[in-house]
Amino acid sequence: MMDDICAHITDIVANSLSAGAKNVLVSIELSKTRNILSLKISDNGKGMDKETAAKVVDPFYSTKTGRKVGLGIPLLKGTAETCGGSFTLSSNAGVGTEIEVSFLLDHPDLPPLGKLKDTILILSVSNPEVNFSFKIKTDERDFFFDTEEINKILDGLPIHDPEVIKFLTNYLDENLEFI
Ligand SMILES: Nc1ncnc2c1ncn2[C@@H]1O[C@H](COP(=O)(O)OP(=O)(O)O)[C@@H](O)[C@H]1O
Ligand SMILES: [Mg+2]
Repeated sequence: MMDDICAHITDIVANSLSAGAKNVLVSIELSKTRNILSLKISDNGKGMDKETAAKVVDPFYSTKTGRKVGLGIPLLKGTAETCGGSFTLSSNAGVGTEIEVSFLLDHPDLPPLGKLKDTILILSVSNPEVNFSFKIKTDERDFFFDTEEINKILDGLPIHDPEVIKFLTNYLDENLEFI
């Protein structure tokens, strides 16, 4: 099992980036009233054909050369199943991929969420050519973070500029207090 949910997010997003995605959407919903944590990651990378998409949930499948096992997807699926949730992967070659997963919020084996603010910041800043959207929702509140919008405001200043990183750190601290 991975340390936390954020480690899963980073891992699944790494697949999107390897697949050449230019847009990556990460939605996280944490609902105490429905006792559910759900996660959706979709991308417009190269996608997979039907056969590959079926195989990647198998822990002994990977298209990476030099390593025989791909583990990121099977690990996430395993965590979801252990925690009374569900897992679906849908992909279309040439279009993109979407992974939807849920967990029971009160399940004793549910890993902690982890450092969400750091995860959002690191992914956004270290992949400036990719448009990231993060939707974070609870029963009371929601928050939307979109790097394309941020880049418009920055007006040419790179997102990895130290001053921008400082600003984004504060911005995320202030707006993600609720999670
Ligand atoms: N978003 C994606 N777009 C296209 N292919 C993907 C995507 N996610 C996973 N794959 C394919 O599924 C394989 C297995 O992924 P994963 O379980 O994370 O293991 P690994 O990344 O170590 O290969 C990848 O090697 C890749 O071929
Ligand atoms: Mg992977």
